[in-house]
Amino acid sequence: MTHSVWRGTAANDRASRRPRLSGRVEADVVIIGGGITGVTCAALLGLAGRRVVLLEARTLGFGTTGHSTGNLYEVLDAGLAGVEKKWGKDVVSRVAASRREAVGLVERFAAEIGETTAFRRCPLVQYSEDDWSQIEEEYETLRAAGVAVRFGECEELPGATGRALVIDGQAQFHPFNYVLGLAEWAAAHGVQIYEDSAAVEIAAGDALVRTASGSVKAKAIVVATHTPKGIYGLHGQMRTCRGYAAAYEFPSLTLPHGIFWQRGTVTRSFRKLEMEGRRYLITVGSPDKTGLHDPEKSLAAVESLFVRKVRAADERWAWSAQAYHSPDLLPYIGHSALHDVYIATGFGADGLTYGTLAAQILCDTIVGKDNRWADLYHAGRFAPLKSAKQTLAEQTAVLKGLIGDRLAVPDYTEASSIPPGSGAIVKTQGRNVALYRDPAGGLHAVSAACTHLGCIVHWNALEKSWDCPCHGSRFGTDGSVIEGPALATLEPVDLARSGDAEIG
Ligand code: FES
Repeated sequence: MTHSVWRGTAANDRASRRPRLSGRVEADVVIIGGGITGVTCAALLGLAGRRVVLLEARTLGFGTTGHSTGNLYEVLDAGLAGVEKKWGKDVVSRVAASRREAVGLVERFAAEIGETTAFRRCPLVQYSEDDWSQIEEEYETLRAAGVAVRFGECEELPGATGRALVIDGQAQFHPFNYVLGLAEWAAAHGVQIYEDSAAVEIAAGDALVRTASGSVKAKAIVVATHTPKGIYGLHGQMRTCRGYAAAYEFPSLTLPHGIFWQRGTVTRSFRKLEMEGRRYLITVGSPDKTGLHDPEKSLAAVESLFVRKVRAADERWAWSAQAYHSPDLLPYIGHSALHDVYIATGFGADGLTYGTLAAQILCDTIVGKDNRWADLYHAGRFAPLKSAKQTLAEQTAVLKGLIGDRLAVPDYTEASSIPPGSGAIVKTQGRNVALYRDPAGGLHAVSAACTHLGCIVHWNALEKSWDCPCHGSRFGTDGSVIEGPALATLEPVDLARSGDAEIG
């Protein structure tokens, strides 16, 4: 399993964990998910005088927030030129303005929390060695949208040729310290926070959320789990990807503070991190479809950038994170089709800023206050012409996952050929079984059918997890839910009882 630089350099050793939910609790709002969206929403609602309960399945910041880039910006990772083609200039301008406002909100909270957030303003720099037209197009889009963009220089990084597009006034922070600090702040303002409290049932209509050890009765439910838990039509439209990152201690690094994006044939990003006198270079590669790639190869491609620079004593970190891409390039934020449930999803690779923006929109909606961005990201919008291509591709992939082919079952493996510390799908007694052999040789068998909608999970050798290619649910080797829309654990399989005592 991987470990992010954010968790590795966290200011708080988490000695004082939040309690597990126990018994029945009442609140105005129950928030599911302790990442930047959920914690920010909790803080804002607490400030607005609402009784708030926040439920985190594992530990605060465990999910994508603690495995992100720590970059905050008003533009988009995939570029705003694409949004202009689908939605027009006015929407581009509103997206940039709304995201700018969200970065400002992070800055204000960071000032409350203190130095551990490492918040600082910096430029965002885009460059290319082989496709300058993409950057020219983005420049025109940004300029027309009122973004303060200019041409400058960049020479320090691989692939840089000197000329670069620069957007001043963006920001960076330590996302894990920020979320933990904001949770402390929210708790001091009356928010009840529980960890190790995964939602196992969301009873929309009753506004009731159950965990294994308790329940919360509220007036509204905010599902801030990156993609909503349960079954939503949106799942069939969003593309789910995993991105890979590495950080190496780099004492002689002279790169200035900034967000650096390489465009063109090679797509990757760089940034510097300075924590407690140590200096790190972080790089992020291009993402791959969840469950349908080789995670070890993807990480190796990112890490290969650093090989020449590393000394044995230097600290190094590697990690991965999931992203959900909406088909029309805008996230879905607001009221879901279920009357007391609010959702926020489809952030793409831009979730730290969008998560903060979503928190503000959801808070305002719940307390009945106008929010000028709410209509732009309305979760119930229907834009078939803008979404058709990706929606068709994703639904085709799910169909394949359900009816069976290479996507459904990677390759059947003989159980005896699974080495310690590895997993594979085996066919036994006519069913697909996800079989993991632990380092001591013990076998752990669970059903390979994803508990969301039944697609077959795939082994992720890097994270030691079972990943579903259909909508991105991920499960531990014991079948427990790590992330994604699934609520239930993978069904345990008793190999001895099913007549497979010989497996192994
Ligand atoms: Fe939807 Fe697995 S079937 S995430």
